[in-house]
Amino acid sequence: MPTDFPLKSRQTRPVHCVGVTGGTGFIGKAIIHQLTQAKLAVRALVRPASRSACFDHPHLTWVSGHLGDSQSLQRLVAGTDALVHCAGAVRGRNLADFAPTNIDGVANLVRAARGTGTCRRFLHLSSLAAREPHLSAYAASKNQGERVLQKEAGDLCWTILRPPAVYGPGERELLPLLQWLRRGLLFTPGAEAGRFSMIFISDLAGAVQNWLQSDTDCGGCYTLDDGTPQGYTWDDLRDIGRDVFSRSVHRIKVPASLLGAVAGFNLALARLGGYRPMLTPGKVRELCHPDWVCDHREFSRVTGWQPQVVLAEGLCRLFVR
Ligand SMILES: NC(=O)c1ccc[n+]([C@@H]2O[C@H](COP(=O)([O-])OP(=O)(O)OC[C@H]3O[C@@H](n4cnc5c(N)ncnc54)[C@H](OP(=O)(O)O)[C@@H]3O)[C@@H](O)[C@H]2O)c1
Repeated sequence: MPTDFPLKSRQTRPVHCVGVTGGTGFIGKAIIHQLTQAKLAVRALVRPASRSACFDHPHLTWVSGHLGDSQSLQRLVAGTDALVHCAGAVRGRNLADFAPTNIDGVANLVRAARGTGTCRRFLHLSSLAAREPHLSAYAASKNQGERVLQKEAGDLCWTILRPPAVYGPGERELLPLLQWLRRGLLFTPGAEAGRFSMIFISDLAGAVQNWLQSDTDCGGCYTLDDGTPQGYTWDDLRDIGRDVFSRSVHRIKVPASLLGAVAGFNLALARLGGYRPMLTPGKVRELCHPDWVCDHREFSRVTGWQPQVVLAEGLCRLFVR
């Protein structure tokens, strides 16, 4: 897939030490496990309040700080050859909630990376949502984060990954939907004809490792999926659930208007309570968007990575084995 970004020259220097952000989150943690198992040295950013989520590995060093603190970012990137930027805000009421992390945070990290003299490569974990920035504040912030990277990168050799929905052990947002599927109920949002791609977490982590080991062109923006052409429909998900869990599954279509009303109420509560909600009117527009299909072929061509886990297998790994 993509890319509407210019490609620059290749680089070939091997990577020994990788800086990772978002390592206390679902995706970042899986990436750190993948990289440390491959015996790469990893320096991972952790916010002070999240220290309890840190885990130990002989090749792993945690650096305390956050994306708004340039000194901690300088400590994070010191001595690294490459950065994998996974930290992201995924909940929020409006763009102001997402921007400090998803836009300004990218700029801060890129500047820190450029200042090292050692860090040459920058992998930015964006989202397929960035393809549809008009849908939500989250999508807009991920899109602007990509633009900021492009603008600020200078000589850094950067790559953007836009994963679709990522699922697997440790994931929390899709899990309730999949748990209900296992119990025989599939709740689906408004759009009748929606199609979507998915990717299992171990495949995404493997893709990052392949990127580190390959000579991708600079300035590429790639999508990833599990290799299912044209992705899945909600009926596909129902049928896969039926086969994997060996039971009947009933699909329950939740009207977009009802979802929108619940999301509006949730947003009002979040404004009153001062917390960052997941379900907002923007998230409902994302959920009801008919086309979240993407594919991995261009990324596979440049890195050699291939997805291993289709949805049926992923559900087995999550619930059956
Ligand atoms: N999950 C998906 O399906 C999916 C799909 C496509 C793209 N993505 C992207 O993948 C990235 C990771 O998502 P995830 O699902 O792993 O989310 P997650 O579990 O919520 O993890 C987010 C991570 O970012 C860190 N973080 C947030 N704000 C930060 C800040 N200001 N400074 C430093 N660290 C900060 C969090 O730290 P704390 O632990 O301290 O909160 C956490 O480690 C995000 O950029 C998201 O947009 C996710």
